[in-house]
Amino acid sequence: MAKASAQKKSVDAEENTRNPGAKDAIALLKADHKEVAAMFEEFLAGDLDDDAKDELAGKICQALSVHAQIEEEIFYPAAREAVSSDDEDLLDEAEVEHGSITDLVTAVEEHEDDALFDAQIKVMSEWVKHHVKEEETELFPKLLKTDMDMKELGAAMAARKEELMEEYDAASDDDEADEDAGDEKAADEEDEDEK
Ligand SMILES: [Fe+2]
Ligand SMILES: [Fe+2]
Repeated sequence: MAKASAQKKSVDAEENTRNPGAKDAIALLKADHKEVAAMFEEFLAGDLDDDAKDELAGKICQALSVHAQIEEEIFYPAAREAVSSDDEDLLDEAEVEHGSITDLVTAVEEHEDDALFDAQIKVMSEWVKHHVKEEETELFPKLLKTDMDMKELGAAMAARKEELMEEYDAASDDDEADEDAGDEKAADEEDEDEK
């Protein structure tokens, strides 16, 4: 057992020197899961002021949206091809769960109801935790027994992730510019009123 893991370590080390930073699909998804769990933990610890909460909620929503998208566009379709039809139930459930989480992400992004903001993040964290547990304990172990090429998928997902992160960053820069323009307009109107 110890020998096997020592062997695996040296293989990993070799891969890393050949292609530093490259992660296989499962490692990439697990790293995302860990990152978002840490953000939820920080939010729910309750030490943040309103601005910091807003900013962190934005990051959580972005991370979840990008993660769901790379799974839905690349990982789940490849998984569907690799598993037997019995195991497709797991993927159906995963997609339904993504739908519920995405609805909540949209509600938080739109800030429809500020009074429910904390509750929305709390519920989101619970749904994500449940979904991640199913992926990591049921889906991924099944997929590791198939012939899915996790290296190749990982590379495709990493590239798509980078692209999506850039798109989201550009969109949120636009939103901020719009907000600033809105603030300026409101200030101008106030000045007008004062005259
Ligand atoms: Fe995931
Ligand atoms: Fe997922």
